[in-house]
Amino acid sequence: MKKLKDKVKGKLKKKRFLHTEGVVDTAVELCKIYGIDGQKAILAGYLHDYTKYMKKDEILEIVKREKIKLNEVEKHNLFLVHGYTAAVVARDEFAISDEEVLDAIRYHTFGRVNMTILDMIMYVADAIEPEREYDGIEQLRKLAKKDIEKAYLMALEHSIKYVIDKNQMIHPNSIESRNAILMKNTEE
Ligand SMILES: [Fe+2]
Ligand SMILES: [Fe+2]
Repeated sequence: MKKLKDKVKGKLKKKRFLHTEGVVDTAVELCKIYGIDGQKAILAGYLHDYTKYMKKDEILEIVKREKIKLNEVEKHNLFLVHGYTAAVVARDEFAISDEEVLDAIRYHTFGRVNMTILDMIMYVADAIEPEREYDGIEQLRKLAKKDIEKAYLMALEHSIKYVIDKNQMIHPNSIESRNAILMKNTEE
């Protein structure tokens, strides 16, 4: 694991690496609470933002080679797909074949319908790691330890509101993921 950590450290700027380490530590802690293999969170955590600053040409090359179908929002906001490119690099450069880990990397930015517990842990850890600061984060940190789905929903809604305030496009997965949870909860 030290090799992975060193490689990531060499790739990312100091601030992004600090964030990454925070995500790993937070996710491992949440894995203990929810009975998930912490190794998966370590792999997903270290690599989730590995390609965050990949150049447009390289992103498009991977998209083409892997036949990844981008939706309109992704085409207009290529930074949104850094989870997709990171999953490809995780598979090819780090020999990670665990689809649960790759999915958690893939969907960490905008979620998906039917998030697994690991997906939710990574999404929430990304939002509450120690370097993050925003109104309501302490409440979210507490909730994360009690109910990962509620915490995911809260983090997702925070992210949707943030994107609206910034006049940016909302990824359809985020809306569908939120709707799916609301539907499930009204059926129960
Ligand atoms: Fe990210
Ligand atoms: Fe991140």
